[in-house]
Amino acid sequence: YNVPKAINEPVKGYAPGSKEREQVLATFKELYSTTVDVPLYIGAEEIRTGKTKTINPPFDHKKVVGTYHEAEKHHIEKAIATALAARQQWVNLSWEQRASIFLKAAELLAGPYRAKINAATMIAQAKTVHQAEIDSACEFIDFLRFNVEFMSQIYAEQPVSSEGIWNRLEYRALEGFVYAVTPFNFTAIAGNLPAAPALMGNVVVWKPSASQVYSANVIMEVFKLAGLPDGVINMVHGNPVMITDTLLASPDFAGIHYTGSTSVFNDIWAKIGQNISKYKTYPRIVGETGGKDFVVAHPSSIPAQVATALTRGAFEYQGQKCSAASRAYIPQSIWPAVKEHLVNDIKSFKIGSPEDPTNFISAVIHEGSFDKLAKYIDAAKAAPDAEIIAGGTYDKSIGWFIDPTVIVTTNPNYDTLSTELFGPVLTIYVFEDAKWAETLKLVDETSPYALTGAIFSQDRYAIEEAAKALENSAGNFYINDKPTGAVVGQQPFGGARASGTNDKAGSVLNLYRWVSPRTIKETL
Ligand code: ALA
Repeated sequence: YNVPKAINEPVKGYAPGSKEREQVLATFKELYSTTVDVPLYIGAEEIRTGKTKTINPPFDHKKVVGTYHEAEKHHIEKAIATALAARQQWVNLSWEQRASIFLKAAELLAGPYRAKINAATMIAQAKTVHQAEIDSACEFIDFLRFNVEFMSQIYAEQPVSSEGIWNRLEYRALEGFVYAVTPFNFTAIAGNLPAAPALMGNVVVWKPSASQVYSANVIMEVFKLAGLPDGVINMVHGNPVMITDTLLASPDFAGIHYTGSTSVFNDIWAKIGQNISKYKTYPRIVGETGGKDFVVAHPSSIPAQVATALTRGAFEYQGQKCSAASRAYIPQSIWPAVKEHLVNDIKSFKIGSPEDPTNFISAVIHEGSFDKLAKYIDAAKAAPDAEIIAGGTYDKSIGWFIDPTVIVTTNPNYDTLSTELFGPVLTIYVFEDAKWAETLKLVDETSPYALTGAIFSQDRYAIEEAAKALENSAGNFYINDKPTGAVVGQQPFGGARASGTNDKAGSVLNLYRWVSPRTIKETL
């Protein structure tokens, strides 16, 4: 099919004195000096229920940048009815028209809305301008553009026919509505999870994370401006259990597109199981969940390279990427050199508001996260088998600031080598060089997750050995690179085991989940 060739959106540099830097900082200021009042978007309606919560930036938690309105059960029921009422017209629209809407959204994000979506992500999620740029601009735009290309590949996939027989596959939308549940940590994921099923002809009820409502509101603005018809994507907020229970109780529930914690996904899966006989069709269950992503270095690896991967992989965006390095296994022979680089790098980090582009990291997302991280840091301070070699301090007087922290442990079963913390805390286990094979086994067996992981080595045999030993330990496996920063269309993203259904966001595999094909055989 003839669709515009998708290419990855170039990352802007935001160099001092550049126009884009001026623009994004001016937009930040402008947004920061006013407040928004985020409604529920159900069809053409903006519903303000009056039951509100405030929106506070994580790096300045006494500041209020807006409020959002929470739904009651009847609003969720209305969202279902509205989505279903919009379905027929949406399904009947030709795929080119649907594609145009999302390509137009990509153009808006690449141009006139770039500063706004980035500034909103900086404020809501405490991302530095660079982290916002690679997420809410580039990755989001890439999802929208590449999905159109993937969609065209799917539609082109047809069975063989023979003389007198014409076989066809018709890629229907799912029969019902899709529920999108999205995380705070990537604006791109928040946008893609409702957009991908909608592109394939589905109608969606979308619940963004309570910590991302502010930038989700900008996403809705962009979708509407791009011409998305009312009712195709409906955005709701409120008690997540009530919202989920109401949506899953509907016989028209046809699928879930989820990114979030493993435990919530498990609960949702169990509830779907309980409701299974109610549904018209078996729902698609697509989820990306937790991680305990690893870096393992071979004695042949280059210490400076390993240390850089650790500082960037573990601490960019405060360690809150699902792909963030959170445990590392370093051989004794190179540990002194790795440690020196690591500690020096961390000392040079500036921490504070994203409004100052010289800050490398900012605050963690909310008080719950802050308290959890502080608790694990304090436990490490008291533990006989752990030592903190960098960071270990925190301060919540202005924002939820946790200093980048490195715990070194002599215990291969130390708690934070397996428990997901989702913050700027890296745990390192130093192993004897001779125990390479045992260490690989340890990496594989220590955590229930399998999202991302990286191996560093200059020795091809060791790389091969690690790739085999860790074949099920990570859905995204990096050789001599940090385990973060997967690019749409280049490194399809997702993991298995407790990390999700591995339906690879940013690839054709994900979009296949949002269609229910009909096979047609016609005798001519
Ligand atoms: N694309 C994001 C990363 O890999 C999820 O870090």
